[in-house]
Amino acid sequence: MAKDLSFVCSECGAAYSKWSGQCDACQAWNTIHETKALASGPKGKTLGGMRGRAIPLIDLDTQEPEPPRTQAGVAELDRVLGGGLVKASALLVGGDPGIGKSTLLLQAAARFARNGLKVIYISGEESTAQVQMRARRLGLEKSPVRLAAETNLRDILTTLEAEKPDLAIIDSIQTMWADNVESAPGSVSQVRASAHELTTFAKRNGMSVIMVGHVTKDGSIAGPRVVEHMVDTVLYFEGERGHQFRILRSVKNRFGPADEIGVFEMTGKGLAEVKNPSALFLSERGAPAPGSVVFAGIEGTRPMLCEIQALVAPSPHSQPRRSVVGWDGGRLAMILAVLESRCGVPFTGLDVYLNVAGGLRISEPAADLAVAAALVSAREDAALPAEAVIFGEISLSGALRPVAQTENRLKEAEKLGFTSAISPHQAKQVAVKGISLRQSHDLAAFVEEVFGAR
Ligand code: TYD
Ligand code: MG
Repeated sequence: MAKDLSFVCSECGAAYSKWSGQCDACQAWNTIHETKALASGPKGKTLGGMRGRAIPLIDLDTQEPEPPRTQAGVAELDRVLGGGLVKASALLVGGDPGIGKSTLLLQAAARFARNGLKVIYISGEESTAQVQMRARRLGLEKSPVRLAAETNLRDILTTLEAEKPDLAIIDSIQTMWADNVESAPGSVSQVRASAHELTTFAKRNGMSVIMVGHVTKDGSIAGPRVVEHMVDTVLYFEGERGHQFRILRSVKNRFGPADEIGVFEMTGKGLAEVKNPSALFLSERGAPAPGSVVFAGIEGTRPMLCEIQALVAPSPHSQPRRSVVGWDGGRLAMILAVLESRCGVPFTGLDVYLNVAGGLRISEPAADLAVAAALVSAREDAALPAEAVIFGEISLSGALRPVAQTENRLKEAEKLGFTSAISPHQAKQVAVKGISLRQSHDLAAFVEEVFGAR
């Protein structure tokens, strides 16, 4: 018999048959809560007894028409959506509180409304006056977006049924209250039930729904993870506090590529699109300094240059610090180990700080070589040539692995005025006019060539 998995982690959504203090899946503490099962079918009837309806079957090559889409007319948003908002789709927009989700969605609502969709914006967090005030600040108060402040899901669905909008925005899913579920708003059962009701309602009525989900670190309210599997598209809105850059990233998209990003800038009048992110991410770069390297990366389908900064200093601690912002800490440890054991560049007794400038978060392994270059440059106190970009993956053996889209990376570098690039050796040569390419087979040779005999 199937186990009753009614205990669910509010961080990652893992389900268990009994309560425990720590989630085995994501290691978070005190995030496992009991949930009430969703309403079940008629009692005593097993599915094996069947009395359902026969489903029509089709061939694999039956042509289904492309789903209709509406574009916002904001390139950064449309690209992340895979070419516009798909009719009758369910989306989740996650992000830290205060990052700008409500601002983004109010601006998107106005755009979609202008392009012909009937849009309803339901705020469960703010009063209508607060949302109107934001609309005025954004200069959108005349947009034909209909607004309400409400948390009762039954009332919301009743209203949507009557109004028949093309798009409903629910800000946020954690404030919604489904009265058929006995637990507090924000709990796993409420968030799940609300998201399920909204998604099925949307599909049934040909309406699109965008739900906002707050990311919470302490698990006191259920995170967006518990609804990720229910929706068609999951977008995360990211950025560092103190930086004006915001990145909208698609982590799941049934109607387009995942891992696509859109770049925005938070201004006094809302979010502005950033058409040339490389220029923006490099704009704060000063004179060439030790520890600073320009990485030629790819985010989704677009090339993006950014600065990687390292600082290496003698450590006063017995356990030196390894601190990293915008990149993976485990990957940093790996690069340090490879530098030490394959290239004879030890970091013992040294504190290491690594930072991706501008609040960008990089996940590409192609950043390995740029990180290694920044680390060695900081340690040796030797600046790299200012007109060079770097990219390449490092393997545990110290060998350099070629990465995808070399040509796009080089073209972007050329466009921004760089004249040389350092990359792994590639069997198939790529040449871009204006860029002199320097290629190495392994990390030790690279360190030797760039930083001289040691
Ligand atoms: P908000 O959209 O309320 O964030 P979230 O819904 O993710 O919690 O926006 C939060 C911040 O954005 C807030 O600190 C103020 C700032 N902001 C601007 O800088 N410019 C603007 O035009 C607006 C509307 C907000
Ligand atoms: Mg908000």
